[in-house]
Amino acid sequence: MTMKAFLFTAFVLIQASVSFAQDSTGTTEWFRSKSLPEFCDTFPTDKCADRHNFLEIYEPLFEPMRDDSIRFFEIGILSGLSHLMWVNYFQNAEVFGIDIRDYIEAAEGSGIKTYVADQSNRQDLYAFMRASGANFDVVLDDGGHAMDHQQISLGCLFQSVNPGGIFIIEDVHTSLPQIYQDSSFHVNELETNTTLLMIETFIRTGEISSEYMLDVEAEYLEQHIERVELHYRRNDRHSITCVIHKKEGN
Ligand SMILES: C[S@@+](CC[C@H](N)C(=O)[O-])C[C@H]1O[C@@H](n2cnc3c(N)ncnc32)[C@H](O)[C@@H]1O
Repeated sequence: MTMKAFLFTAFVLIQASVSFAQDSTGTTEWFRSKSLPEFCDTFPTDKCADRHNFLEIYEPLFEPMRDDSIRFFEIGILSGLSHLMWVNYFQNAEVFGIDIRDYIEAAEGSGIKTYVADQSNRQDLYAFMRASGANFDVVLDDGGHAMDHQQISLGCLFQSVNPGGIFIIEDVHTSLPQIYQDSSFHVNELETNTTLLMIETFIRTGEISSEYMLDVEAEYLEQHIERVELHYRRNDRHSITCVIHKKEGN
């Protein structure tokens, strides 16, 4: 079986299990009665309590907008589990996804609008913003988790977040090579290029310092960020997620 056929099969199986859950429990009303952490029975992503435990943070953040017609965009699709979770949690939302791999065919009929784009490539990100219409209420980066990926995406895509919207950088713990020893996260030897350092510096000084961003992007962030929350989960994986709130006005 080719990789593409395998992914397609996996996606169809997941969709089948979702339909099954909906059929056996009373469809959308059943999902509506569940809090976000309870979605883990159906959508066991690594955001759940047995892994990074981020949904506990996202529930109070997302609940007030749960019924709104929001535009929700997550970077990183893989099996499509988290995107399917968003589709069923935000029942009036438009859900968008990009991935460096092509999931367009696999996601057909799922309600998720997928695009092929490299999150570390500005041309790809601009093409995606034009094609999707941008204006997102939530952007969630769960892509490659490398320092350049995270910082280029934040710098480039923050302008696509609506006033009062949210940009989340998930898995900021990849900034800690003593815990996540993986060269694909591109932490330099002196650890001066990390996303965690960039965020902590901003919280302390109000300045964005990133070797991956254009000056104009860093200035835009400094002018438009309302506040930043760093959430450290109490588990042995040192899971960290960062929630960046955009100012209400422009
Ligand atoms: C952690 S998985 C996403 C999991 C998914 N969000 C979930 O919770 O079920 C990361 C995904 O990011 C994608 N990815 C890695 N590097 C990328 C890049 N440079 N641009 C876009 N996507 C990338 C991978 O192909 C993979 O599908």
